[in-house]
Amino acid sequence: MHDAVHQLQFIGSFHEELPELDLPEIAFAGRSNVGKSSALNRLLGRKNIARTSSTPGRTQSINLFQLGERGVLADLPGYGYAKVPQHVQDKWKRTIESYLTTRRQLRLVVVLVDARRDPTPLDGQLLFALQGANIPILVVATKVDKLKKSERFRKLGAIRKEFGLAKDQPVAFSSVTGEGKQAVWDRLDAAAAAPPLESSVD
Ligand code: GTP
Ligand code: MG
Repeated sequence: MHDAVHQLQFIGSFHEELPELDLPEIAFAGRSNVGKSSALNRLLGRKNIARTSSTPGRTQSINLFQLGERGVLADLPGYGYAKVPQHVQDKWKRTIESYLTTRRQLRLVVVLVDARRDPTPLDGQLLFALQGANIPILVVATKVDKLKKSERFRKLGAIRKEFGLAKDQPVAFSSVTGEGKQAVWDRLDAAAAAPPLESSVD
């Protein structure tokens, strides 16, 4: 996928009835404001093709980005932002759930967590649901630029323990410094090249 970044094309914003593109797809999920859209911009080398905001709740629909014939990246709305009215949160939840359970081309879900914070129950629920559906997961800890070296080791270890991750996760990432970019691309490329999942869907 990485080698097709120069062919990047924004496909559109969707709540339902996403286009069937018949290409490997990788989704970016996580709490509101965790840095999903920023991570996508950094990976894609673009300033704001995935729109970001300091106010949580910026991304409210599913935004699809196509990389030539290699694959598609999906920027999902965030979850868990208390100031968003419950009925709106419910709507996003339905959008995310329906996407994750029906999207045939899905090969990997990148679950972003804030490296500085303790993971929330909602993060756990998402991981649990993805594991249950046999969908491969990559946990990425964002905003590591805000952590001191000493804290980083402890925080990343706590996230690893909380979610029972292998020792190569969470991947430490910063959209500000670009740290972790290559490591994430390597995982995205491997997932896109892997055979389709048998599992997740119907
Ligand atoms: P929603 O679309 O609302 O779910 O949020 P999101 O997860 O897409 O977050 P977004 O990328 O919009 O970033 C939220 C805020 O965090 C913005 O103010 C970003 O500038 C900031 N941010 C994102 N990633 C990083 C990072 O790696 N380091 C630092 N220091 N700030 C970051
Ligand atoms: Mg966003």
